[in-house]
Amino acid sequence: MSTLRIGFVGLGNQARENLLPALAQINGAGIAALCDTDIGRAEQMQGRLGANRIYDSVDKMIGDGGVDLIVMACPPQVHFSGARAAIRAGIPVFVEKPPCLWTHELEELIDDAQKLNVITGVGLNFRHSKAIERVQRIIQSERFGGLAHLCLRHYANKPRTSMWQLDSPVRSFLLAQTIHTIDLAIHLGGPVAALACEVDAKGNSVLIRMSLTFARGVTASIVTGSSFPAFEFGLEAVGANHGLLTLDNLWNVSVRDEAGGAFSPGEKRWSESWQPGPLDSGYIRAGYAVELQAFVDAVASKTRFDADFQAMLPTYKLIDAVCELEPRQPVFRQAAE
Ligand SMILES: NC(=O)c1ccc[n+]([C@@H]2O[C@H](COP(=O)([O-])OP(=O)(O)OC[C@H]3O[C@@H](n4cnc5c(N)ncnc54)[C@H](O)[C@@H]3O)[C@@H](O)[C@H]2O)c1
Repeated sequence: MSTLRIGFVGLGNQARENLLPALAQINGAGIAALCDTDIGRAEQMQGRLGANRIYDSVDKMIGDGGVDLIVMACPPQVHFSGARAAIRAGIPVFVEKPPCLWTHELEELIDDAQKLNVITGVGLNFRHSKAIERVQRIIQSERFGGLAHLCLRHYANKPRTSMWQLDSPVRSFLLAQTIHTIDLAIHLGGPVAALACEVDAKGNSVLIRMSLTFARGVTASIVTGSSFPAFEFGLEAVGANHGLLTLDNLWNVSVRDEAGGAFSPGEKRWSESWQPGPLDSGYIRAGYAVELQAFVDAVASKTRFDADFQAMLPTYKLIDAVCELEPRQPVFRQAAE
């Protein structure tokens, strides 16, 4: 199989801390070109990871015809325009979350990608992390019996100012942070049938409580906001056979059920736990290398990538529904079903 040529756009923090090191670990593709409007960043990194060409605009990079797929880590407005240009040129494109600001933009990208048969992807590393892979396997096991209820916590201490020129702190927060957790809830629970939600926003700090009912009867609650001292993520899953699984910060998975287990059949107060190995690569554990490898494999085999633009649509619709409840001045609580 020939090596696919990646054009990487947006050489900021996320690129340098996570995506470029993760790309160095994957098979079947190599970085051919780097692009940033701050050309100094591209110049500094030229030649690293084999990237010989540099650009200060996505359009110029596409126009040169030297890349087979594009990976972007920019502000969402740039993801939208860059992804649209890539799709129209027939080039597969993977963008960090969020892919755009608005649902109508996402629908435009989905429409273009479908018409032109272009593979797309969104960086949602939570769902590709080792811990979530393990959680999914346990939930789907005969013993756990599938999901009955999901309880998710996504606590954060930022952003507390509106980002990307949005005038809504709630939309800004959901697109920057809880997009991961909403995507995960839908990924595990399936299509959403109903939402009840309360939104508190004091200044630019938000606190949101959501109750979801999925079409197959499973329920979920999500507590999220920027009012917390630091980032914290927690998941509890109740199984159809009364098991309880907990995941702490994408790290410790523990599961218990009423009786038994592999080592103590019939015994009460039984539990098992799992953690990533101490020498596991951070980029694999956190899901970055896994999602990028899966995207490259999808491009090589011309098959759909699971976390594509189409898969994001239910998440954007849910974000729209929550934003409709955003308190306006004076700032206090509203609730709705
Ligand atoms: N999945 C995650 O866990 C995670 C974590 C952090 C950030 N992110 C996402 O990654 C993206 C980037 O975040 P960041 O923290 O690296 O931001 P950043 O500001 O550090 O980097 C963005 C880069 O994009 C460049 N850029 C801006 N406009 C451009 C254009 N038109 N063409 C080319 N380059 C352009 C900027 O010069 C900058 O180098 C955001 O969408 C963010 O939400 C995801």
